[in-house]
Amino acid sequence: MDNVAAYFASLQGATAGTAMSEFLPNLKKTNITNANFPADYKTKYTMYAVVNYPERPQVRHLYANDVALKAAREGKPIPNGAFLVLEVYTPKLDDKKVPVKGADGNLVPDTLAFITTMAREAGWGKDIPEILRNDDWNYAAFNADLSVRAAANQAECLACHKPLPADSYLFTLKELKEAALKKK
Ligand code: HEC
Repeated sequence: MDNVAAYFASLQGATAGTAMSEFLPNLKKTNITNANFPADYKTKYTMYAVVNYPERPQVRHLYANDVALKAAREGKPIPNGAFLVLEVYTPKLDDKKVPVKGADGNLVPDTLAFITTMAREAGWGKDIPEILRNDDWNYAAFNADLSVRAAANQAECLACHKPLPADSYLFTLKELKEAALKKK
């Protein structure tokens, strides 16, 4: 993260006025769009993890396609063709505004707030500067109605996931592998 900050800082001096430095458009550009977002992920993908954030409050449901699941099961790097979907819900609250837990200990989802995705195909990383590149992974965020979430900045996604090359840039590779082995 320090390197990324230093890189951005160095660019400001290097560009005239308010001109955008060259690579920013490349960073915004993601190959994940409404056109290839898997509308049927709830039935076609496997929900492999639930992550609770009671203090926010949020509960997140994580889905992976079969390509990602198979590689995780075999302990291989997650290859091109992988697609992951992370749903962010606001949870049900009780009358004291405390998030409600279900029988499984997880927060009970109420409203879908937004969705984040990561996916990879050959060449998707080539226009992203090395300092932020996550191999061929691209990132995108969508609103609950699947319109593109304008506030999301792919540079932030790339920067935060960047330190995890050994885990195929996934924070939840362990959970994915466990779920994949169970499903076998
Ligand atoms: C501040 C760090 C941070 C940023 C920024 C970030 N993520 Fe993540 N991401 C995480 C963490 C931590 C997880 C693990 C699950 C969780 O806690 O929700 C995760 C999980 C994911 C997953 C599920 C697969 C995995 O890696 O475990 C997807 C998909 C994802 N993020 C997409 C995105 C997208 C798209 C963006 C940008 C809009 C983004 N992330 C920005 C930290 C970050």
